[in-house]
Amino acid sequence: TVNIDATKSIAKVPSTMWGVFFEDINFGADGGLYAELIKNRSFEFTQPLMGWKKLGKANKEGVFLVENREKENLKNPRYLQVTAGKTSKGDLGLYNEGFRGMGLKAGVGYDFSVMYRTKTSGRSLDIELVDSSNKVVGSAQLQLSNADGQWHKATVSFNSNTTVLKGGANIWIVGEGNVDLDMLSLFPKDTWKNRPGGLRADMVQRLADMKPGFIRFPGGCIVEGRDLANRYQWKNTVGPIEERKLIMNRWNTEFAHRPAPDYFQTFGLGFFEYFQLSEDIGAEPLPIINCGMACQFNTSEVQDMSELDPYVQDALDLIEFANGATTTKWGKLRADMGHPAPFNLKMMGIGNENWGPQYVERLHLFQDAIAKKYPKMKLVCSSGTDPNGEKFDFLNDTLRKMKVAYIDEHYYRSPEWFLDNAGRYDNYTRNGSKVFAGEYAAQSDGMANPTNRNTWLTALSEAAFMTGLERNAGAVEMASYAPLFAHVDAWQWTPDMIWVNNLQTYATPDYYVQQLYSLNKGTDVVSATINGKVIEGENKLYISSVKDEKKKEIIVKIVNASADAKKLDVDIKNKEKMKSATLVTLQSKDMQAVNSFDHPENVAPKESSLTIKGNKIQLDAAANTFYVVKVQY
Ligand code: AHR
Repeated sequence: TVNIDATKSIAKVPSTMWGVFFEDINFGADGGLYAELIKNRSFEFTQPLMGWKKLGKANKEGVFLVENREKENLKNPRYLQVTAGKTSKGDLGLYNEGFRGMGLKAGVGYDFSVMYRTKTSGRSLDIELVDSSNKVVGSAQLQLSNADGQWHKATVSFNSNTTVLKGGANIWIVGEGNVDLDMLSLFPKDTWKNRPGGLRADMVQRLADMKPGFIRFPGGCIVEGRDLANRYQWKNTVGPIEERKLIMNRWNTEFAHRPAPDYFQTFGLGFFEYFQLSEDIGAEPLPIINCGMACQFNTSEVQDMSELDPYVQDALDLIEFANGATTTKWGKLRADMGHPAPFNLKMMGIGNENWGPQYVERLHLFQDAIAKKYPKMKLVCSSGTDPNGEKFDFLNDTLRKMKVAYIDEHYYRSPEWFLDNAGRYDNYTRNGSKVFAGEYAAQSDGMANPTNRNTWLTALSEAAFMTGLERNAGAVEMASYAPLFAHVDAWQWTPDMIWVNNLQTYATPDYYVQQLYSLNKGTDVVSATINGKVIEGENKLYISSVKDEKKKEIIVKIVNASADAKKLDVDIKNKEKMKSATLVTLQSKDMQAVNSFDHPENVAPKESSLTIKGNKIQLDAAANTFYVVKVQY
């Protein structure tokens, strides 16, 4: 018997409860969400012509040279100098291979742009979109007509007439005269909200479809950087894109299951865009910044305590960038970038997976400075990755004593761990710091193992664990699965919630679990028991329930993680009469079942109606199934 008592609220469900964790890992941003198709557009990768191939009779007809003008332009030092005589199409050009190819769509418009500098007016570019056998599927000519010897931007738009999964672009240099080229860029027009230079709409749509309560960005380990020189610095990610200084991605060849020696961060998707994305999809922004410590898995490099001021200042300035008046330095930049209204930032993270006394002493500096200037700002503080060990307990105690708003716990564990730990927060204190389950995912074959898959077993075990998060919303106020995106040809870490290629996405069973919780989060936790308990351990039955005061709905999540079907009598107590009920079922008979581009809905939710008699529902709970029962009153 399942008993639900919806007559009283046990805890409020925070609007932030279920969110998403975004990191530029697995080509999440460059090569993924950020819709730029040209790789190494400003020749700043370690190898200046990485991603590019010379075309035609380059040596005979002309010379390409990558020039460095670091003193003049520290943020975008390199450009391509073309010295050539008279050339026609086919004589001299460049091919760009894209990020594991370029996805091109029939009928969709493409914007090509370039920054150029020349003293002769006879040059133009012939741009060709090509398929994998170099067949042209779209083309345009672009006159580089301004010959005043200064840098100018030129743009041309044209269509692709064919859909191609792994295309590329030829850029032919035609006409006469020497020319310098930089920031060669190609974007589809069908970006999210049709913003020029924007984000891949299909990927954003997956996020919007979850209605996440928050977006945590920009990671993960990339916040820390492999070393401090390569830490994530938000100030390098705002302002004009040609002034955003690129760095090597911390995931470049690291965890090289799919080596990505060409993995850089151009920051075209930077902090302004992250805030805008959060606003677009109604999620609270949750930026995480470096605390003066590099990634503890790579190095123990920490910034000396006496030199932490710039780090703390970055935190203060970030709040001004997000919320400050347009008369302030950073608030003005936000307005200049197109968003005079504040982004209404309420919380921010200090450090990712940092621990030890070094973390605590650095955190104190941030905490004091932020509290002094922005007393309402809530801080999310790192608790490492060791949920069962001493490190975790010590830090949790210390952070609680420091009265931080949120403690960010991460767990990548086996499905069995998730099933066994659904009661993890049942006895947690409701007072003081709240838990942010900031990164978690069941690993089918062990921590970050390349053979990990997003199976039905991983998803089901997370669904069971999440009953414990939901019922303990008084202690756990935010949770997010990690990592979020992975490109099938360029991942470093698996499992991941959403898989993409250059044209499509598919959602994993784990995505559907997250989505079912997020779309059915309710407003109040109510009491839910199975035969008097919150978890029926022997029978592997898990349960939680919320009420949605606005939608007038009682929602019961039931996970039967056993190999046997169970006949359940669901008995609901409510002040108002119940009218109808619907059932959402997520299941597979095969615990190893996965989704794929060919079978994207192999494991996907199915909705049906359910009979309610008075206050009772009978549910034949099949083996290994996740149910969401929704009762309208
Ligand atoms: O999600 C992948 C990585 O796992 C994150 O970058 C890091 O925070 C964690 O160790």
